Amino acid sequence: MNKTALLLATAIALSPSASWGKEESADARARNTEAAMTAAERENLLHGIMALPVIPGTIIPPDAVIGAGYVEGVSRLGVPSLKESDASLGVAWVSGMRKDGATALPSATAMGAGFDPALVRDASAMIAAEARAKGFNILLAGGINLMRDPRNGRTFEYFAEDPLLSGILGAAAVEGVQSQRVIATVKHFALNAQETGRQVIDVKIGEAAARESDLLAFELAIEKGKPGSVMCAYNKVRGRHACDSEYLLSDVLKRDWRYPGFVMSDWGAVPGVSAMAAGLDQQSGSQTDKQVWFGKPLIDAASADPALQARISDANRRILRSIYAVGLDQPAPAVKIDQAANNALAQRVAERGIVLLRNERNALPLAAKAKTIAVIGGYADMGVMSGGGSSQVHGVDGPAATIPMGGEGPFAFLHSINLHRSPPLAAIRKRAAGAKILYDDGHYIAEAARTAAKADVVILFASQWMMEGYDVPDLSLPDNQDALIAAVAAANPNTVVVLETGGPVLMPWLDKTAAVIEAWYPGAQGGEAIARVLFGEVNPSGKLPISFPASVEQLPRPAIPGWDELDKSFEGTGNEAKKVTVDYDIEGADIGYRWYARKNIKPLFPFGYGLSYTSFAYEKISLRGGNLPSAQVTVRNSGAVAGDEVVALYAVAGPNDPGQRLVGFTRVSLKPGETKRIDVAIEPKLLARWDEAGHRWQIAAGRYELATGPSSDKLTAKASLTLNARTIAQ
Ligand code: BGC
Repeated sequence: MNKTALLLATAIALSPSASWGKEESADARARNTEAAMTAAERENLLHGIMALPVIPGTIIPPDAVIGAGYVEGVSRLGVPSLKESDASLGVAWVSGMRKDGATALPSATAMGAGFDPALVRDASAMIAAEARAKGFNILLAGGINLMRDPRNGRTFEYFAEDPLLSGILGAAAVEGVQSQRVIATVKHFALNAQETGRQVIDVKIGEAAARESDLLAFELAIEKGKPGSVMCAYNKVRGRHACDSEYLLSDVLKRDWRYPGFVMSDWGAVPGVSAMAAGLDQQSGSQTDKQVWFGKPLIDAASADPALQARISDANRRILRSIYAVGLDQPAPAVKIDQAANNALAQRVAERGIVLLRNERNALPLAAKAKTIAVIGGYADMGVMSGGGSSQVHGVDGPAATIPMGGEGPFAFLHSINLHRSPPLAAIRKRAAGAKILYDDGHYIAEAARTAAKADVVILFASQWMMEGYDVPDLSLPDNQDALIAAVAAANPNTVVVLETGGPVLMPWLDKTAAVIEAWYPGAQGGEAIARVLFGEVNPSGKLPISFPASVEQLPRPAIPGWDELDKSFEGTGNEAKKVTVDYDIEGADIGYRWYARKNIKPLFPFGYGLSYTSFAYEKISLRGGNLPSAQVTVRNSGAVAGDEVVALYAVAGPNDPGQRLVGFTRVSLKPGETKRIDVAIEPKLLARWDEAGHRWQIAAGRYELATGPSSDKLTAKASLTLNARTIAQ
């Protein structure tokens, strides 16, 4: 065996735990500390509280920071308390309960559209540095559930419908967060794809389908990112709550993937003491459960059960191991928050994620000659849309506006639309100094149409608010905005629609518009980012990380399971006795574009779609096989301006009938006329199938066809390679 082959073989043979950073010492230290703990100290790390004065009777310990969670440490042994904050988009605002703001990143979907792991890493490091500066040492950041249903109210907290893209970006987010000595938390493990009845729905899915989709996203994020913690989900999987699922926690995560960190529960997701034996290590926010299960009830149950006692020790060691591996016991790096730099980074993320969906007659970028510009709707005078729920972030001065949306119960405070202070109207004004700007709030359609008719060009803002805990009932724009757009576009065909949505929406008015851009929830500097794209200061390069269906009938489940039977309040009170099965075997692992490809359905816009102010020619593709296969793709900027292209590579045929699947991607910058040959690494697990009988990833011998092109349904360059049969080490 030559040296490279030997190194490769060794790398493959090593378990993930053996290649987990500073872990050898972390493992040893965890073992030593746990051995020195008293029985009472062993209970300490197993449960925490929600450190918010929301639930009556909550006493917030003096060293806690107001935020999602607090777990008391063991000061005698130098084990720090765990201070947890949400989430992936920045340090949560908790409705102003903690009086300091933070930098709001664009939605995770916007980050997904960037296809840019390096940027996600930087952005996540930035929010983790802010978290650490506020006293937190765990960020509940790392939402990577796959978008099985675009109506999911948390779509904006997730990256993509695709396991490779979600897994790679999830790993990048974890790396960024943990670079600041803050533990990252990939969540919600697993198959948590709808909010309706999230505490009770029971997911049905076959083994191979689960391994090749939702579980694969977690597997990749965990093996590449090495998160200190994993948060289990609310829903049931095959009859057991995810936080009480031996299958998910012990068999898949800890045995098959050899995950050495700890599993924390979602808030209020622990059904009982049995969760410890199933593999849960820590009960979070225990006031939100029926009992502090991992306190006295667990200790009582373990008193006559040596196996459970051993499990308690293991849970402690896992928590300690992550504390040491990520460096929570080390002095926090000194952080001086540079707000201007953090805003600039949030803006870069937004700019990279904006997707140009339509651009007739080169309506964009806006011509300097437009004398009158009408700006209509979408609160464009005040700010930009953001998503609601535990992940809500706000800047130092709080939201630009808060629009209460009603709601009852202890978490009613979450029910409000919040706008970030970055009004697109001001950003447009700044760039169109010579033009007359007309503004109309869009509330009266006829008036908005009259304003539109007076302008050379109309920029119409439309938004869709989403919130954790609630799915949207359909994919139409709310509040009659579809009618508004239709009337405005009829009054002025030069209408550019800017969407600020959590995920896909239908566009019955599409053909009548000149241009459409999807800006998602664009974060702290959203107005600036949008204006820069509109005026051509930034050439849009985002690509859809989720397919936009042409109707809900195209989805695997046209109706959201349980929609009519279940109580849809945030707490879902009264759902406990209800049984709703969600059948993910309908699409299996073929989520989104894979479903459309399999069914031969044409969505409104496919995964990977996104226009640019320039054009790209895919000139050549060649493939390299072996254990680490890759593609070399030659791309030319065939237009007149510089731009970025995301080169996405798909497997389209193979001996194991893979269907269509993204197997690799790379982002590249090209000057006008420039040609580059780009390497795209291929993730072997995407060429493999999960072999149920052999319980392993298996690449079948034979010829694989791979293809690339401007979007998942326009694959213009194809090549094939022959692979030997191979089992991939987990
Ligand atoms: C959410 C989690 C969040 C937790 C703490 C739960 O409702 O599902 O994502 O981290 O609350 O706020």
